[in-house]
Amino acid sequence: MRLLAIETSCDETAAAVMHGPQLLANTIATQEIHQLYGGVVPELASRAHVQRLVPVVQHTLAQARLAPADLDAIAVTYGPGLIGSLLVGVSFAKALALQLGVPLLGVNHMEGHLFSTNIKPAGPEPPFLSLIVSGGHTILTYVRDWGQYEILGQTQDDAAGEAFDKVAKILGLGYPGGPVVEKLAASGNPAAIQFPQARLKNTGARLAFSFSGLKTAVLYYARKLPAAELEKQKADIAASFQLALINALVERVALAQTQFPVRAVALAGGVACNKTLRQAFAPFCAGRDLQLHFPEPIFCTDNAAMIARAAQFHLANGKRSLLTLAPDPGLALA
Ligand code: KG4
Ligand code: ZN
Repeated sequence: MRLLAIETSCDETAAAVMHGPQLLANTIATQEIHQLYGGVVPELASRAHVQRLVPVVQHTLAQARLAPADLDAIAVTYGPGLIGSLLVGVSFAKALALQLGVPLLGVNHMEGHLFSTNIKPAGPEPPFLSLIVSGGHTILTYVRDWGQYEILGQTQDDAAGEAFDKVAKILGLGYPGGPVVEKLAASGNPAAIQFPQARLKNTGARLAFSFSGLKTAVLYYARKLPAAELEKQKADIAASFQLALINALVERVALAQTQFPVRAVALAGGVACNKTLRQAFAPFCAGRDLQLHFPEPIFCTDNAAMIARAAQFHLANGKRSLLTLAPDPGLALA
C-alpha cells in the first residue's frame, strides 16, 4: 500500500510517503516566521500551512517518484493541535481522498509520536514505556500493545519543551529554545545551581510532571543578577536547568518502571533530540536491563513519517475515517 501522510497540527507543514516498511519520502517545512515572536502564533501557522501544504505534498510525491493516482490511501493528523492548523491538513486530505477515491484515515498526533521509534526497523515492541516530551506535551505512557495505551503521567502545567523555550527567553536566547539551551549548557556546569524539583500536589496522578516551578526558579535567579553577572553565569544556568528537568524525567520513568513489566523505554518528541537527555537515560536503562530507543532527531520533532507509520497499523486493522472527519484540537491519547 502506497500511503501519503499529512501533518499540520502545529507549525511544521509535513508530508511523507510510505510503501510497506519503506519510507519513500519525508518532507518537513518549518515555519521560521514564529522565531520573530518567540513562540508559535496560531493564526500565522494556519496561513503558512495554506500556502505551503500543496508544494510540500508535490515535492514529497516527486521524491517518492509517484503521481497522486498511484496512492492507495491518505492519512492525516486530526488532533490534538491548533484548530486552524489542523483544519488545513484535514480539509486538504479529505479533498484528495475524495478526488482519488481512496480510503482516508485520521491519526492522533500523540499516537504518531508513539510510533516514531518504529519508522525504521528494530524499534521497541510492546509492552514498553514511552516518554513523549515536546513543546506541547509531556506524557508518560504504558504501551500495552499498539492501539492500547495507558497514560501514567502528564504535565500539570508547562510541557518540557515549553520550559526549554521559556528559559531560552529568560536568558535572551532564540526560539525554539531547546537546541540553543542545549548548546549553551554544553559549556556550563550542571552542578553550579541547585534548582528545585517540583513538589507535586496530591492530584491522584502519581507520576505527574510539573515544570513551571523550575522555570520560575530560573526566572527569579536570573532576575536578581546584574547584567554582567547574568552573562557570565548563563551557561551554568542553562546546564543546571537542563539537569534539573532531565532528573525529573528520569525519576518518573524509574517510578513507572517499578510498576509496569517492560523490557524497553522509548523517548520521543522534540525534546528527545537533546543529547544530554539521551545520555541520562542510557545508564538508567543499562542498569535495569531495559532497551533504550529514541528516533533520529528528524523523527523526534513533528513529522509526517510517524503519522504514516501509525496509519499503517490502523489501516491494516481495517480502520477508516469518513469524509466528514473533523479536527479535534483536544483529542486525547487514551
Ligand atoms: O515535537 P515538537 O517538534 O513539537 C511539538 O509537538 O510540540 O517539539 C518542539 C519542542 C520545542 O519546545 C523545542 O524547544 C524542543 O522541542 N526541542 C528541544 C531540543 N530540540 C527541540 N528541547 C531540548 N533539547 C533539544 N535539543
Ligand atoms: Zn508533536
